[in-house]
Amino acid sequence: MLSRDSHGRAILGGRRIADLLEAAGASTPAYIYDLGAMACEARELTAAFGDQPYLVAYAVKANTAGPVIRTLGDAGCGAEVGSWAELQVALRAGIGPERLLLSGMGKTSQAIDAAVGAGDRGIRAIQVDSVDELGRIAARARAIGRKARVALRLNPGVMAETHEAIATGHDDAKFGIALRDLAAAFEALDGASDALDLVGLGGHVGSQLTRTEDYLEGARAILSIAVTRPGLELVDFGGGFGIDYGDGCAVRPADFARAATALVREAMPGATLVVEPGRALVGAHGSLIATVVATKLSGERRWLVLDAGMTDLLRPALYGARHRIEPLDAAPDPHALTWRVVGPVCESTDEFGEFSLGSPPPAKVLIRDAGAYGYTMASHYNGRGYPTEVFLHADGRVTTSHANSATSWVDARSAS
Ligand code: LLP
Repeated sequence: MLSRDSHGRAILGGRRIADLLEAAGASTPAYIYDLGAMACEARELTAAFGDQPYLVAYAVKANTAGPVIRTLGDAGCGAEVGSWAELQVALRAGIGPERLLLSGMGKTSQAIDAAVGAGDRGIRAIQVDSVDELGRIAARARAIGRKARVALRLNPGVMAETHEAIATGHDDAKFGIALRDLAAAFEALDGASDALDLVGLGGHVGSQLTRTEDYLEGARAILSIAVTRPGLELVDFGGGFGIDYGDGCAVRPADFARAATALVREAMPGATLVVEPGRALVGAHGSLIATVVATKLSGERRWLVLDAGMTDLLRPALYGARHRIEPLDAAPDPHALTWRVVGPVCESTDEFGEFSLGSPPPAKVLIRDAGAYGYTMASHYNGRGYPTEVFLHADGRVTTSHANSATSWVDARSAS
């Protein structure tokens, strides 16, 4: 868990983050992850289901690093994957097919084939996003000579209270099967019973939910339909559990799990309750460390330029998200001189916001709560290399990965 020593220096697992980076030979920008804290998150969540059969399918799109998926798998999680490549990464991290769900729209034949073909009877469920997709999955299943286990992803028509870009369960969102198309979906399923096994119903109303109401509204809508189809083995209410980015978050992942468990126990006792949290398991346990490369005074404005930018952490530029930025080796001081903190990328939106970082500014800063949708949304824009990743394991080991460097980008783009 991120904390500060008596000098105000940021520490993780009792060691200075600056020392951990040095030991790993990591230069900035670098993500550092606390795997032990991620395992604790998973265990706190799984304890909330009591004796209800459940599956925590970690949404790997939040953080696809092998050590992260392996840590959560060892803590009892399965995985929700959104592509063929994510499916491979999850399998290689040791998540068995019976703990895997494939979702997403526009699934490729390669992804469907891998899902149907995995293990002895395919993955736990392919979440079907449209009536049209049912036909495509049935065709692939027939070609492979196996039945595909499918769950319908419903769009329950719930407008979740969150950023509009990450609300997914409302009528105008592209995701899921609209309730008015449900009869057509069941008809298509019945017509393809030689190739498709309907094992469940699900939905995902949105991300970064900071209260349980919208989640439960979606859950009730899914359950009200699931009870009309006897024999379903699972219901899946999706992910979306919010975290505290500094403005507070009154609910913990376990609160969502407890409330959802109560609903399932009443409506479909014996069914497996699936939840798909991504951010809540990893977001708070990753920080992005950056070096201050320049200051710039222009009129009234004070800019602080980091070596990390929107290519390393896209959320501020894409959603106006605010991640707290603090000195790496000094206690945060809310009264210190403020700076507008920006990255080096050629875009005006490459800005993290205004932060009290003092004068002179620190040599290095820590950008908090960057463990989810940080590295996974990185890009090579401006020919920038991907940030380094440093993993602090629960046993104190430190490992690192440095893939997709600027040098490898130069080689790839220079190839004729
Ligand atoms: N299940 C499905 C079907 C999803 O589409 C997602 C996220 C999740 C689970 C996990 O949601 P979570 O528990 O992490 O909220 N890049 C955005 C978030 C996009 C979420 C996409 N889907 C961000 O940085 O806020």
